This record gives sequence, structure tokens and C-alpha cells, in this order.
Amino acid sequence: MNILILGSGGREHALAWAVLQNPKCDRLVVAPGNAGIHAIADCADLDINDGGAVAGFVEEEAIDFVIVGPEAPLAAGVADRLRDAGVLVFGPSRAAAQLEASKAFTKQICDAAGAPTAAYGHFTDAAAARAYVSEHGAPIVVKADGLAAGKGVIIAGTVAEAHAAIDDMFGGAFGGAGAEVVIEEFMAGEEASFFVICDGEHVLPIGTAQDHKRVGDGDTGPNTGGMGAYSPAPVLTDAIAERALAEIIRPTMAEMAKRSMPYQGVLYAGLMIEDGAPRLVEYNVRFGDPECQVLMMRLGAQALDVMHAAAEGRLDTAQVNWADDHALCVVMAADGYPGTYDKGAVIGGLERMPETSQAMVFHAGTTLKDGAVTASGGRVLNVTARGETLAQAAERAYAMVDAIDFPGGFYRHDIGWRALT
Ligand code: AMP
Ligand code: GLY
Repeated sequence: MNILILGSGGREHALAWAVLQNPKCDRLVVAPGNAGIHAIADCADLDINDGGAVAGFVEEEAIDFVIVGPEAPLAAGVADRLRDAGVLVFGPSRAAAQLEASKAFTKQICDAAGAPTAAYGHFTDAAAARAYVSEHGAPIVVKADGLAAGKGVIIAGTVAEAHAAIDDMFGGAFGGAGAEVVIEEFMAGEEASFFVICDGEHVLPIGTAQDHKRVGDGDTGPNTGGMGAYSPAPVLTDAIAERALAEIIRPTMAEMAKRSMPYQGVLYAGLMIEDGAPRLVEYNVRFGDPECQVLMMRLGAQALDVMHAAAEGRLDTAQVNWADDHALCVVMAADGYPGTYDKGAVIGGLERMPETSQAMVFHAGTTLKDGAVTASGGRVLNVTARGETLAQAAERAYAMVDAIDFPGGFYRHDIGWRALT
């Protein structure tokens, strides 16, 4: 098969790395890719949010299968455009991608499916939203309805903070994403992520993970896209995973099919777990980044088989063979991230890094400049290792981090702490 992966982050480097291990892959192209991806696959300069451009490329390059990494092309209908052209695609339609692109849509689906989630109100004007907060009190969670790059969620400790967040959102702080606002009950508990592959009808669990959203050690500082991850997440036990499938995920899939928008692709369910019971925090319609890096390290070549089976609607015959292993990823970021950060630092030591099924440095925001790998994003490298225990995976990952020379870079020293202590 000739395969095209859309995206340019650590997630897509990990997907490319796993796909290349599978003998079914004859040729791999990643668009647009990054310096790390460039070392293992062809990269193509394509506007991945332009369905027509992607469809044209697929035809010219005789691509057989397209894997969509990020949510933006999905929300823009790129998968629909490709399917209309008869191309095999892994990733949901624009309609099904509303599970991430609209929080109000997801809440309505949960209501119809009877899936446990936070109680909520959905508002199109500030006065009604403020009144709802006054009535329910704090803590309370204020969310911009649309895609806001992970920044549209405010956990308000006081009514005044919630009112200020509402005014900001309706005032345009999140652009069109904040034209509608969802206000939710604050859920206590421990968060974990559950990843399943769906083919519109069947559901195949492919792993659990936990990420670290705050920028600083000890979960301090502002939220980021994720400073590290590990898999599996011990809090998401088999029993809780079964409940999440039975009470949340399968009913969601059935409701989507009933509405003639069957969901095909990876579904990333963010769960809040309290007293052994899972509730849905949010869905994402893509792999998490950096959760994908730890999942790919554990799945290896099987990842392509399950994505391919999902795209062909035969997930009922697919399976995942699990090793009793653990993977952990440490994100190296540029100083200043998640605020403004410098670009252009030359990264050294990468040539000494192992590249094995146990240890890989996936690239996130890197570019090749005059033959040197340079930092070009906020999150720059995703140092990922596998082990028989989580402690072993952590030791391997941090040994690599120590040997990388990234002037002006930083990382968290406590990735995995919840499961390690
Ligand atoms: P979301 O973009 O919906 O994932 O929200 C970002 C983060 O905010 C989540 O990962 C949770 O840590 C937190 N969060 C969102 N909704 C709630 C809620 N209802 N109760 C508690 N925490 C929440
Ligand atoms: N790491 C969180 C996300 O990908 O949404």
C-alpha cells in the first residue's frame, strides 16, 4: 500500500514510525511532516485542510490509504472529500468530527445516549449564561463551544471568575469558537484517556494513557497541549474500561449511527474517574499528542492493521495483541511555551540516540536548516521509551533527555508521577 499521513507533529512522527514497521506499507508520504519524519519518509508540502488539494495529491501519487492526524482537516471535511473520490481514509467525516468540534453537540449526543457526563447548560447569550452560573454556584466549568486549540476551557473557582470567563468568550476572546458557550458542573476525580478505534459499527480498544497538561513540575503553571504521557493508565482498570465501553462509548457510537453520521476513526475519550465510575469529560476525534507516541510505541506495526481494518469496515475481525509493557514520553519544549517562545535553536546529540522498538525521539516542532535539526515549535521533541515497568520506561526516557543538547529547552521532571508513586 502507498500511504499518506496528514500532519506535522510528534503524533504524526509516531504514526509514521509504526506504519513503516508494517510490511503492508510499500511507500509512505507525510504532509507536511517535520525534520524527524523527513528522516524516515517522504514529506510533501500540502495544505492539509484543503480537501481538493489532498485529493489531487492522492491521485497523482497513487496513494491507497490516507491517515488523518489532526482535528482541523477532519472538521474541515477532508475525509469526506477523499471518500467522495473513492479513497480509503482513516478518520471521521465532518459531521462525526463534531464530537470534538462542538461541545454542545457532544452533550446532546450524551443526553440521547444516556452516557454519564457533567450536567450542563448551553448558551448563546451572556445574560442567560451568567444567570445559570449564579444559580449553580462555583466551582463550575465554562467552555467555548468550538475548537479553541485546548484553550477554551476555564475551571472557575468562584462565580466572579466564571462571569468574567463568560464575558470574555462572548466578547470574542476565542473568536467564533466562543459564540456559543457550554457551562458544566465541575467533576472531581482522576482523569485518564481511553483510546478506541471505530469503524462506524464496531469498537476496538487500543489502550489507555494519562497526560500532563500543566507546564510545570507538580502540575503547576498554565495548561499546555501536553508535557508528557504514559500508557497504560493504572487508574483506568479493565473493569472501568468495560464500564466506559458499555455506558459511554458504545451508546455514543450507536447514537451516531442512528443519526446517519457513523463514526469511523480513532475516538479519544477523556474520562473522569471517581469511586470506580467513569464519566465523559470530552471526546477528541484524533489521537492525543503526546498520547499517540506512547500508544504507537506499544502497538508497533499492529497500528496500521487496525486503522486499515477500521477504514474498510471490518474491525469485528481485527484484534490487538498486548505485551505486558509500559511506555512513557517526555516532551522537550522551548523556553516560554505555552506562551511566546524562541525558534531556531540547533539541537545536538540526536545522532547518538537509539532508534529501536524500546526508545525513540519523536520530533514535534523541528525543521531541518542547513542540515541541522532546529527547534521550530513550542513542543519540540517527544522522548519516548518502553519498558517492562513504568519505572524502567521512565529511566530510559530521562536518560535520553539528559543526553540531548537543546539550548533554551525545558521539560518536566515528573512525568508518570501518579503511577510511579
Ligand atoms: P476539555 O478541553 O473539555 O478537555 O477540557 C480541558 C480540561 O479541563 C480537561 O482535560 C479537564 O482537566 C478539565 N475539565 C473539563 N471539563 C471539566 C469538568 N466538567 N469538570 C472538571 N474538569 C473539567
Ligand atoms: N494531549 C492532549 C491532546 O492531544 O488533546
